Amino acid sequence: MLTEAEHRALRRALAIAADPAAPPGPNPRVGCVLLDPDGHMIAEGHHRGAGSAHAEAAALEHAARAGRPALGGTAVVTLEPCTHQGRTPPCAQALLAAGIARVVIARPDPNPVAAGGIRLLQDAGVELIDQVPDELAEAAAALTRGWEHGHAHGRPLVTAKTALTLDGRAAAADGSSRWITGPAAREEVHRLRTDCDTVLIGTGTARADHPSLTARRSDGTLLPRQPLRAVMGTGTFPPLPAVPGAGEALTLATHDPSAALAELFTRGRRHVLLEGGPTLLAAFLRARAVDELIIHLAPTLLGAGPTGVGDLRITTLTERLDLDLVDVAPLTSPDGRTDLRLTLHPRAA
Ligand SMILES: NC(=O)c1ccc[n+]([C@@H]2O[C@H](COP(=O)([O-])OP(=O)(O)OC[C@H]3O[C@@H](n4cnc5c(N)ncnc54)[C@H](OP(=O)(O)O)[C@@H]3O)[C@@H](O)[C@H]2O)c1
Repeated sequence: MLTEAEHRALRRALAIAADPAAPPGPNPRVGCVLLDPDGHMIAEGHHRGAGSAHAEAAALEHAARAGRPALGGTAVVTLEPCTHQGRTPPCAQALLAAGIARVVIARPDPNPVAAGGIRLLQDAGVELIDQVPDELAEAAAALTRGWEHGHAHGRPLVTAKTALTLDGRAAAADGSSRWITGPAAREEVHRLRTDCDTVLIGTGTARADHPSLTARRSDGTLLPRQPLRAVMGTGTFPPLPAVPGAGEALTLATHDPSAALAELFTRGRRHVLLEGGPTLLAAFLRARAVDELIIHLAPTLLGAGPTGVGDLRITTLTERLDLDLVDVAPLTSPDGRTDLRLTLHPRAA
């Protein structure tokens, strides 16, 4: 059971872990807050990308520098402390060496190389709390989603997002698709872009829409965390607009989703937002390379124009690709317009 101080500390640890200034990369986003035995905050730290201090080490260093030893105190961490000697020393041992008496962990570490912190701390007699309220556990899981997927599957997590009319059109007959959905849905796309570390489109969308693929606030200014902007295909397309502060632009000159994802994985990318268009979405669905599909469904009809998903090469009903609907939510804009967000997971074959 968490104390009130630990509850507050975990919220703080989750907030600092999500620091948008931390560069995207292959490492998880982790936060740590240290409390003294009376529950007062001593220091905090978060991981700022590969090669930099882990959250626990950063917090212990801040505590030492402030002359506030953590002896007998509590470490509140968003992810199980590692036991792995990599470019930085193992965190579970560092907490023990500092004399931490209690550790609160919001998320166990699924990485077999680094996991074991819970066992090590318990064996050393540290009091361990690894059950936290669902809402906080979910927030901790969201921070490490792409990283965990990378460990389990050796490729980035792929969230595909498409905006559709009620009759399943992704664009009008003349190719125009801006904007099918209202401001609230568009705002959510920018949030998705900043949460993922890569935005991926096909050359067809690059040619039709000239998108900047930046993550922006509703006033047009850039959010602090910008995704890599990747265009996939072998044909030519106009360069993505050069926006100061935008993420790097990358061409993936292939039609093979696995090869494209392998290249992104090698570059340290762990969560790809696939933003279309219909041809690329179909290719990823056919390759079973979509982990989550988000559909923004607009209450409007076009009657003609490309459908949201291209050819899946399905010729009969029994070959259909079934998805599980995991969430439905209205996206209501200030002008009262409401689109629907459907979140779906392709069913395992
Ligand atoms: N409503 C929405 O959410 C939404 C989102 C995005 C786009 N759109 C609309 O969609 C339309 C563009 O559709 P689109 O299907 O042409 O766009 P697309 O899927 O972005 O691009 C298709 C092109 O990507 C390349 N490509 C890369 N990998 C491929 C693969 N595995 N298989 C086949 N081709 C591959 C091919 O061109 P190469 O010859 O260059 O290889 C192909 O012609 C536009 O009207 C755009 O506005 C709508």
